[in-house]
Amino acid sequence: MPAYSTMDQYVEAICYKAAVGQTQWYPPLMLSAESIAQRAIGADRIQEAIALLGRLSHDDYSEYLSKYYQEGASRFGSDWRYADIVTVLLALAEQLQPKSYLEIGVRRGRSVCTVASKAPACDFYMFDMWVSNYAGMENPGPDLVTQELDKFGHSGKRVFTDGNSHATLKPFFKANANLAFDIITVDGDHTYDGAVEDLCEVLPRLKVGGAIVFDDVCHPKHRYLQDVWNQLIENDPRFTAWTCADIGYGVGFALRKW
Ligand SMILES: C[S@@+](CC[C@H](N)C(=O)[O-])C[C@H]1O[C@@H](n2cnc3c(N)ncnc32)[C@H](O)[C@@H]1O
Repeated sequence: MPAYSTMDQYVEAICYKAAVGQTQWYPPLMLSAESIAQRAIGADRIQEAIALLGRLSHDDYSEYLSKYYQEGASRFGSDWRYADIVTVLLALAEQLQPKSYLEIGVRRGRSVCTVASKAPACDFYMFDMWVSNYAGMENPGPDLVTQELDKFGHSGKRVFTDGNSHATLKPFFKANANLAFDIITVDGDHTYDGAVEDLCEVLPRLKVGGAIVFDDVCHPKHRYLQDVWNQLIENDPRFTAWTCADIGYGVGFALRKW
């Protein structure tokens, strides 16, 4: 289990803090995950995701996904209840207005650019070992991600930590003892043990009101990721969680209550 300690940093946009001298009756988080999910699954969000992918450099997967979005929108219109890492991060970044974002598994920068499109001044801490030919596609590394972020006018810090997250996260957190994050995405090592380890490393650094995003919870090749998500997040009362695990590859996100 993650080694949580008291967190004194909050995401102000979605937390309510009693004034000095007054009692803080409730946990500070004011929004449930369900409230944000409603904003991640609408027809407008699909159009936004299509536009976002159109600004990024293409690969086989992004071309497939653009067509999938367009087909879903045209066949099912506003009845289409679809979510993925892009639509979830669009909704979260819009609502939370993050100042600091950590991501394990950056690949070609799609998810960091999704956050940048809503919060261009956010500081980005990006961890990847740039596995070559990842999923059969080029995975060139920080230079491409930098070019992609420039397209979105990203002006915050860009800290790349190259290497295996199981070797890089611990020293990074040791060197940055007070750093906490508004949104954290875990989308790197997709083995059971690797995903557990990544989540356990990063979760104690999530601010109160902050969001954890976990991709591919119903990926046919990694079905156990749903168990990882359930054990570490869904079953933990400190989170309000929402999961889409029925179509696509699925995604889960949760907000920290305390
Ligand atoms: C699924 S892709 C990330 C996709 C990206 N989040 C997006 O939405 O476009 C996974 C990435 O994780 C990286 N990766 C896999 N195992 C890793 C590890 N142990 N440490 C660091 N990065 C890893 C791969 O190099 C790859 O770029």
